[in-house]
Amino acid sequence: MPDIRFLLGSEPIVLAGIDPCMTLLDYLRFKAGLVGTKEGCNEGDCGACTVVRVRSVDGVLRYEAITSCIQFMGALHGCQILTVEHLADANGALHPVQRALVDFDGSQCGFCTPGFVMSIFAATRAPGDVDIDDVLAGNLCRCTGYAPIVRAAEQALREPAAETDTATLETLESYKTDETVSLGDFHAPATLDDLAALVAAHPDATIVAGATDVGLWVTKQMRRLDTVIYIGRVAELARLHEAPDGIEIGAGVSYSDAMATIATHYPDFGEVIRRLGAVQIRNMGTLGGNVANGSPIGDASPCLIAAGATLHLRCGQAVRSLAVEDFFIDYGKQDLGPGEFVERITLPYPAPDAWFRAYKISKRFDQDISAVLGAFNLTHADGVINEARVAFGGMAATPKRAPAVEAALTGAPWTEATVARAMAALDQDFAPIDDLRASAAYRLTVAKNLLMRLFIETTEPAEETRLVGI
Ligand code: FES
Ligand code: FES
Repeated sequence: MPDIRFLLGSEPIVLAGIDPCMTLLDYLRFKAGLVGTKEGCNEGDCGACTVVRVRSVDGVLRYEAITSCIQFMGALHGCQILTVEHLADANGALHPVQRALVDFDGSQCGFCTPGFVMSIFAATRAPGDVDIDDVLAGNLCRCTGYAPIVRAAEQALREPAAETDTATLETLESYKTDETVSLGDFHAPATLDDLAALVAAHPDATIVAGATDVGLWVTKQMRRLDTVIYIGRVAELARLHEAPDGIEIGAGVSYSDAMATIATHYPDFGEVIRRLGAVQIRNMGTLGGNVANGSPIGDASPCLIAAGATLHLRCGQAVRSLAVEDFFIDYGKQDLGPGEFVERITLPYPAPDAWFRAYKISKRFDQDISAVLGAFNLTHADGVINEARVAFGGMAATPKRAPAVEAALTGAPWTEATVARAMAALDQDFAPIDDLRASAAYRLTVAKNLLMRLFIETTEPAEETRLVGI
């Protein structure tokens, strides 16, 4: 099988003789001697390890900030990786982003600075408007304070757009192949049929998309992954399109690529995606992976369940479809047979007379793990709830619907008394656990209060009641 090739700066690399699950951060620091990229948390949270991954998408170079600490080397075929060492020009003159951080005093100890530089650099190459706070949400600085960094980013974003790097574009195009590329037991197929054949041949393999979860198995749990199948090159799984019956989202579509379309139809779901991870994580992680891993606090699943989404699982040439809520059997146990993998998700469009709300409760606003996530999808007419789909994350061993709450709401007038009954019914649906994120009592109370919040938001003037920040 062909080798895994990528560009490190302008240097072509053919991977050989390394563990394919070595992280890009370790490769940069220990193999390539590029120590500008720093290790902070080693789990995708702090941004110190941010680098830029460049891909050729439809003949255009796309620059995406990613966290190198949870990026597997085996997943880099056809990419260019740019680090802070690659930005200065041939004469050593600072790149405008670096210059702006110097000019605006955006650095003190400097540990976080390469990560900020790369996040801002990626933003300067992004099409369209850029929200600087969002760009920087995945980079933590413990000493400078963010205001000078924001000013530097504003300055850098005023610079004229850079010209297309045609040499890189040509090289990345030349790496494209329909063949599976491999490094040892790490396989990266390019077609759905090859993926299906590989999964059938290796039913115990770990299937990886963005590795925003699996990456931590390696960096935090020190697990060794034997056979790995990476789905990020499979063209069919990278598709998202608005079909007549709903939005079809391939298992390899990143959060970044799904967010805008989902937000058009479900603004609250779009906001949940924006908050579940910073830009770097959204550029790597996928909705398919979030569901497939079955985390009880996976933020996407309650939203998908409330929206009535369908999961399509493939095994060889056969495809099986089931409601997302039926996929979750128990903690860490999903309805996924040997040789089966998540192919795509169908997210139906909201009914015209529906209220869809999703509320994420976490200690920190951006990119924190939820204590509770409540998603509500109520269709109504003449002040009566006709259908209720209510799902929670963080309340049980799996993301789960709330049947007693739904029964209390269905067919009832949308009044405070109904909401009070639904809040009481929540006790029948969940007996949450205590853990370091929240106590059981807190989870139950806050989940009930989300029902009241929904009631207030849908019955009082929007500008007074749409709550933000919690
Ligand atoms: Fe913190 Fe990678 S080291 S995000
Ligand atoms: Fe010290 Fe940011 S300058 S952590």
